[in-house]
Amino acid sequence: MCGIVGAVAQRDVAEILINGLHRLEYRGYDSAGIAVVNNKKQLQRVRSLGKVQELENTLEKQPLLGGTGIAHTRWATHGEPSENNAHPHISGNFAVVHNGIIENYEILRHRLQEKGYIFSSQTDTEVIAHLIEWEMRSSETLLDAVKKVVPQLIGAYGMAVIDSNDPEHLIAARSGSPLVIGLGIGENFLASDQLALLSVTHRFIFLEEGDVADISRRQINIYNRNGEKVERLAHNANIEADVADKGQHRHFMQKEIFEQPTALINTMEGRLNHDSIIVESIGNGINEILKNVENIQIVACGTSYNAGMVARYWFENLAGISCNVEIASEFRYRQSVLRPNSLLITLSQSGETADTLAALRLAKEKGYMSTLAICNVAGSSLVRESDFAFMTRAGVEIGVASTKAFTTQLVTMLMLVTAMGKLNGHISVEKEKLIIKALQALPKDIENALGIDEQIKILSEDFAEKHHSLFLGRGEYYPIAMEAALKLKEISYIHAETYAAGELKHGPLALIDADMPVIVIAPTNDLLEKLKSNIEEVAARGGQLYVFTDRDANFKESENIKVITMPEVNNITAPIFYTIPMQLLSYHVALIKGTDVDQPRNLAKSVTVE
Ligand code: F6R
Repeated sequence: MCGIVGAVAQRDVAEILINGLHRLEYRGYDSAGIAVVNNKKQLQRVRSLGKVQELENTLEKQPLLGGTGIAHTRWATHGEPSENNAHPHISGNFAVVHNGIIENYEILRHRLQEKGYIFSSQTDTEVIAHLIEWEMRSSETLLDAVKKVVPQLIGAYGMAVIDSNDPEHLIAARSGSPLVIGLGIGENFLASDQLALLSVTHRFIFLEEGDVADISRRQINIYNRNGEKVERLAHNANIEADVADKGQHRHFMQKEIFEQPTALINTMEGRLNHDSIIVESIGNGINEILKNVENIQIVACGTSYNAGMVARYWFENLAGISCNVEIASEFRYRQSVLRPNSLLITLSQSGETADTLAALRLAKEKGYMSTLAICNVAGSSLVRESDFAFMTRAGVEIGVASTKAFTTQLVTMLMLVTAMGKLNGHISVEKEKLIIKALQALPKDIENALGIDEQIKILSEDFAEKHHSLFLGRGEYYPIAMEAALKLKEISYIHAETYAAGELKHGPLALIDADMPVIVIAPTNDLLEKLKSNIEEVAARGGQLYVFTDRDANFKESENIKVITMPEVNNITAPIFYTIPMQLLSYHVALIKGTDVDQPRNLAKSVTVE
């Protein structure tokens, strides 16, 4: 949520900052701003409503020159998206950008108003700017002032501050919201995500919780939450600058959908032998834990939650291990009962989702036997704070609507289930071979599934005028239908609901009419006959059905049943495979509707606020 970029250099930094904001825009895009200190030690600020491009357009007419600056792309929490509420916020000589939420901002605002500060925005961030101005009155340096401000703030945040009187320094503080320092030669940078800085450096220092950093051109000093000076290791990023380019694709989402065969190959690399799973590849020393696990609790949000819901079927069906799945924002505020020998699994693309992180911290307090993060971002908070991390290796995902992160999560979970079933004796050697064979065939299967793109494009025209839709599935296909509905609503703004098909007659059948397309995921499996009866119930009431199935299932087209026949695939991995036509459907419907596919309204990637 929101993106921060900062720089201290000898050259003009506005272009670097704007370039960085473009790369972070997927995190928030309702307004943007930049502040740079010029060579007369004056703070110059430009802000604009809307996307970073608007800011860039304004800067073309009104260029900012100077070597020290900060910039921000916003996803509104306190105060509507507007130029006034856009960051940076200024008080005196100080400019501040901030990600996250200051929970006690009302009390602080009140106190500052009593001291005579006048607020020009509705944001929580502005209190930080005024607090710094206030504390600076009794401090020698900006660093000292920021160190005094930090303990006064309650909430999860990352911030960057500059002082026009002292442009040699950029001060950063991290508490719950990631920040990374980019190391240059005679210049240094700051960002909320290394992606923003790949055009200027590949060397990074990740700040840890509670860290305050004093960044200047030639020196970086970091202090931990106790105020002690600490060394943090620098890492080389192994991602390329062009990951943030769309290539020949029209949207990042399309690029990421089509990257899935490669992403899945990466996910499995070094984790599978010819016909067995390499258990040790999940984590050093995890065997002992996995052997003793009796219960699994999965916590996640959004798409990652849907992946967890699919995995629940696998944990119980294949590995015989009881598994609960809960939305992180519910889990963290509920008195749940800890079952014996429970492993907590968090699922998250970003590894920074505030609710999932809070759920992990709570689970650690409660005494779960161990915690395992299934995550796409190495070095993320979730990975660092969990006992084990099994990385999904999807590669950078920029489209706000998650696609390759979901399918790689599913493959990672299926490998984990196989390992656990193997260790507890539920999965025989023969069964393990079957699963491995299915997994190894999956990248090719997905490539075949992508071949139906043109057919889906034509089909999507049926949806363009619709306002509502219903997705149905049974068994593992129920959560796959949930994910399909989430994708459609998020990028096409068509209301999409999901039901386990067996629930239809308990209420939702009342919704069925010719204007409600009903999408059913219906491959051949044990539940097919039951699902066919559910489909009949809809057809008999005049509903328009779209059935995604295979040849063996033997569906007949009729006036109100369209059949989309998918290639044959292994039953075990079929839920992953059937995700593909659903992603393509939502993508093409959104294209027809002309929505902003990569940055749908009101959303942001990586939800680092509660
Ligand atoms: C939907 C989507 C979101 C995320 C959710 C959790 O396409 O991307 O629902 O899945 O915000 O994010 P992570 O996985 O980063 O914890």
